[in-house]
Amino acid sequence: MNIFKTLALGAGLSGLLFSTANAEGLQGKVIGFSQIGSESGWRAAETSVTKQVAADLGVDLKFADAQQKQENQIKAIRGFVAQGVDAILVAPVVATGWEEVLTEAKEAGIPVVLLDRGIEGPEDLYLTSVASDQVKEGRVAGEWLVGAVGDKQCNVVELQGTVGSSPAINRKQGFEEALSGKANLTITRSQTGDFTRSKGKEVMEGFIKAEDGGKNICAVYAHNDDMAVGAIQAIKDAGLRPGTDILVVSIDAVPDIFAAMVSGEANATVELTPNMAGPAFAALDAYLNAGTLPEKFIITESKLFTPADDPQGEYDRRKGLGY
Ligand code: AHR
Repeated sequence: MNIFKTLALGAGLSGLLFSTANAEGLQGKVIGFSQIGSESGWRAAETSVTKQVAADLGVDLKFADAQQKQENQIKAIRGFVAQGVDAILVAPVVATGWEEVLTEAKEAGIPVVLLDRGIEGPEDLYLTSVASDQVKEGRVAGEWLVGAVGDKQCNVVELQGTVGSSPAINRKQGFEEALSGKANLTITRSQTGDFTRSKGKEVMEGFIKAEDGGKNICAVYAHNDDMAVGAIQAIKDAGLRPGTDILVVSIDAVPDIFAAMVSGEANATVELTPNMAGPAFAALDAYLNAGTLPEKFIITESKLFTPADDPQGEYDRRKGLGY
């Protein structure tokens, strides 16, 4: 089976991936893609999947890497508008500040699809948003921790994603919701690790230093797996056992977190499919070829994985998919 079909089926999106509104589908359409950058393994996989699905569909994809900067994304979108592309995909690095540029796209009659992150602003500025329910992701991670810890006193440290991004805001909210009313679980420290492995490690080192060499930390919650992998290294460097002395729970389900589970160093992750492009292209096909308006929010699944879920098999299934 084609690897992208595998990803779509895994995320419950099979009906959305390869349906076409007419025989040509998106063949020959020019579509701009403003990507955030390459801060994480998940982001790299989303980029590969998008390029591959575009190639499979005969889309002429214009790819722009914003190097984590909103100003670069705004420039890229303006460039796509000036070129007169058929549609624009954008993964918005932060949630605010999009109104002006998306109004320009709207006035030019170019449909915009948001990928994997949301924005604050009028919903008529985009055709649809393909993303997970990020509050739910945080809640699923938090509920796992509540169950794992039971009645034990547990001080939790949190590695947040990029400041002002929708996953950082929403994953924090969902996790706090799951912990609310649980007097034995307290978030004692919370800081951004910017969704990167190196920053996750650095911030975790600071947490360990400030918390008696890590003795006062029972769990780390990271808004993505890359920061969790960085934190695992910091825990090991401090002479502690990740996964045992300090529980590790995070989001994304990238191959490296399954490798860490195999070694007993990670405890839980919530899957985020990197295949946002399949549903996005299907929505654009239906809209551009038949005028069909898609659902405003296309929500991908958020499945919990633990060491009980064949981590070696999950690693093998994912490696080589662009992570
Ligand atoms: O917006 C999705 C998040 O962005 C992923 O969880 C993270 O890895 C990425 O950087």
